[in-house]
Amino acid sequence: MSITKKTRLFALVAALAMVLAACGSDSGSGSTTTTGSSGDLELKKPGTLVVCTDVPYPPMEFVQDGDYTGFDIELMRAIAEDLGLTMEVAEPGWEAITGGLAFETDCDVAASSITITDERKENVDFSDPYFEAEQSLLVKEGSGISDLADMAGKKLAVQTGTTGHFYARDNGPEGIEIVEFQDADGPLLAMEAGQVDGFMTDLVVTQDFVNSHEGFEVVATYPTDEVYGLAVKKDGAPNLLAALNASLKKLRDNGTYDRIYNEWFGN
Ligand code: ARG
Repeated sequence: MSITKKTRLFALVAALAMVLAACGSDSGSGSTTTTGSSGDLELKKPGTLVVCTDVPYPPMEFVQDGDYTGFDIELMRAIAEDLGLTMEVAEPGWEAITGGLAFETDCDVAASSITITDERKENVDFSDPYFEAEQSLLVKEGSGISDLADMAGKKLAVQTGTTGHFYARDNGPEGIEIVEFQDADGPLLAMEAGQVDGFMTDLVVTQDFVNSHEGFEVVATYPTDEVYGLAVKKDGAPNLLAALNASLKKLRDNGTYDRIYNEWFGN
């Protein structure tokens, strides 16, 4: 066998070994992916998926005993594992996420109950939808408020730049006082302290609050047909986006999505 033939054969065997390694389902190691995505995942740090989120937004993303958890976080943990990546979490702030700035610095992907909107699509690219949402109005029990229309002359808390904020701004009655907070902790603390009369945000969050706090109720829901997407850098991460979508589909098909869903929301 000539030298060149030997070299070619060696190259062929090496290539085959790499293909086999990539096909293996060893999810914990290295940079192999099991989702069939090809190419560089455009990660900030090779081998690590930096997931950006805005906490607290329980039960979707929050810190418990010093660790990030919640539906979004556990879903991302499963996606990172599927992609053979180590997950890290960062908190660049809500408006840096939806405005796209976060992807210039820390973040590979954001998972933060982000409603897919046309406006946001100008700043970030979204994955396929992975969760459905609607708006809701949280008030103190016995407040006499039963709808947004009853909030004239009253204080409604919102997280700045969220769909709840926009919904209240566009549909609230004349004389409503919208009180803005930078994160979702502010409205919940203000509700508990009796400093505001209501909080408008996604039902999944107000419902969780009612379940874990005495004396509050969700008096109205508003079917806004919202769906959440994972966000990545606008026009900057096509391979990562394809890998995230492939992984989401795989986790839905193999029951992992449902298992995580049931852990957080029951059947
Ligand atoms: N779904 C709403 C939106 O996209 C609220 C999301 C707020 N998320 C958060 N982690 N605070 O505007």
